[in-house]
Amino acid sequence: MRQGLSEGGQVGAVDDHPASLVALGVDPPRVDHPPQGVIGQAEQLGSLGYPQLRHKQDVSTASATTVRVGHTGAVNDPRLEELLGYDRAHLWHPYSSALTPQHPYLVESASGVRLRLRLPDGPRHDCIDAMSSWWCAIHGYAVPELDAAARAQLDRMSHVMFGGLTHEPAIALARRLIDLAPRHTEAGVVSGLGVDAADATDAAVAACESPLQHVFFADSGSVSVEVAMKMALQVQVAEGTGKRRFFTIRGGYHGDTFSPMSVTDPDGGMHSLWRGILPEHVFAPHPPPHDAAESELLAWEADTRALYAGHAHEIAAVILEPILQGAGGMTFHAPRVVQVLAELACESGALVIFDEIATGFGRTGTMWAAEAASVVPDIMCVGKALTGGYLTLAAVLCTTDVAERVSGGAAAGLMHGPTFMANPLACAIAGASLDLLARDPQLTAVARLERGLAAGLAPARDLAAVRDVRVRGGVGVIQLREPVRGGDIAAYAVQRGVWVRPFRDLVYTMPPYVTSSADLATLTGVLVEAVAAVHG
Ligand SMILES: Cc1ncc(COP(=O)(O)O)c(C=O)c1O
Repeated sequence: MRQGLSEGGQVGAVDDHPASLVALGVDPPRVDHPPQGVIGQAEQLGSLGYPQLRHKQDVSTASATTVRVGHTGAVNDPRLEELLGYDRAHLWHPYSSALTPQHPYLVESASGVRLRLRLPDGPRHDCIDAMSSWWCAIHGYAVPELDAAARAQLDRMSHVMFGGLTHEPAIALARRLIDLAPRHTEAGVVSGLGVDAADATDAAVAACESPLQHVFFADSGSVSVEVAMKMALQVQVAEGTGKRRFFTIRGGYHGDTFSPMSVTDPDGGMHSLWRGILPEHVFAPHPPPHDAAESELLAWEADTRALYAGHAHEIAAVILEPILQGAGGMTFHAPRVVQVLAELACESGALVIFDEIATGFGRTGTMWAAEAASVVPDIMCVGKALTGGYLTLAAVLCTTDVAERVSGGAAAGLMHGPTFMANPLACAIAGASLDLLARDPQLTAVARLERGLAAGLAPARDLAAVRDVRVRGGVGVIQLREPVRGGDIAAYAVQRGVWVRPFRDLVYTMPPYVTSSADLATLTGVLVEAVAAVHG
């Protein structure tokens, strides 16, 4: 079924015989599923009439059956049909309806930066993953080092409870996170990778130790935000301050459990459904874009300071995604925004919580967005890329001060303890993932992505439907003037060998760091082409 190779990296229907896979000499050295060949005659794409998209998860992939993608001849596979039929009848996909179920693509395997999909009529179809599986698979898929770490840990144990027990993978990972955490130095706020211990005395290295010295492992990003908020509240309860509310900025997203929902933008996301049920926290105006005029930033600062002043007595903590607001709209803001919020918290005795679940581990160009913001928080949530996208794991880091204040209360400890806390398998893989990141302390892979995204997405600026094109680190965004026809874009891109999931008015990518320059050029080219084809 394979139809020859195309240098341009177009990927099409493939057979599944390993001998047909030809490694490309691409940079970086990981060998992906190779480009396969131009797919067969595709049928015209029609509008799928999607409802207005409001959130990252809203785009349905119903296009897979509505639009026949890369149809290369009849491949009738009863097993595939049965699987997808059962999926539609019984499985909830994110934000989906049981009445009108989605038609997702079945992924058969993944390797390097490619997902091997089954098309609705059977053929296998390799797609470059523009999403890193919701931003976590930074090293790509089937990563030998991570596979080896998983296998080695499986031979010991996959899980034990963390209450009353501990284990080396968790200890090693906590040590790694603390060593990597942001800290103040003479050169500004840097991650542990930015501290050159070789040239410094022990005292000098110790002097710039991160204040984040305690780690609580959680089982997902949302739960880590729950824990961070609980920590902040426990401090206030322990000290009898009566402070119970959080201060944040509009345009944020912090997860889907109830506490994170309560600090997620109340209008922009689907969480407006819960108005009246969620606790009401205080939202500063949406920060101006990173390249806004100074006057706009000053006006935002004045409004935010005035709002805060009216609530300072009741604010337990400020919480925000520093530098990049992800699922709330893929917007970048200036370091000053973060600094203003941190100053306000500091002045009123509130804590500062950074949600680095999306930004952490290099995504915006520095190991932590905290470095770009020049602020070290009191509490920091990390997740997503922590395990290189292999298993669900998150962590909350906090200062010794916070840990002691939480522990000094009547509860005498942090009142949280999930069953799968510090899962050894996930911790072992996370350690191996951090080893891979440490091989590139300057994050040159992300800098290369940034250049490739900027060059590759720039032509979208000429399209009438496009309002803005922006890039930061490994994040590339095409923002439209209208709601995106996400299903059509996704179907078009899959047809040309790219997996993307647009939302709201955004076609964006956060590719794996190991995406080669050739694949990145293909990916960005397909996104621009898809916007042109679908939105004109
Ligand atoms: C900034 C941020 N915080 C929290 C979450 C929630 O993480 P999880 O989906 O692992 O619960 C997300 C997920 O997209 C996120 O982007």
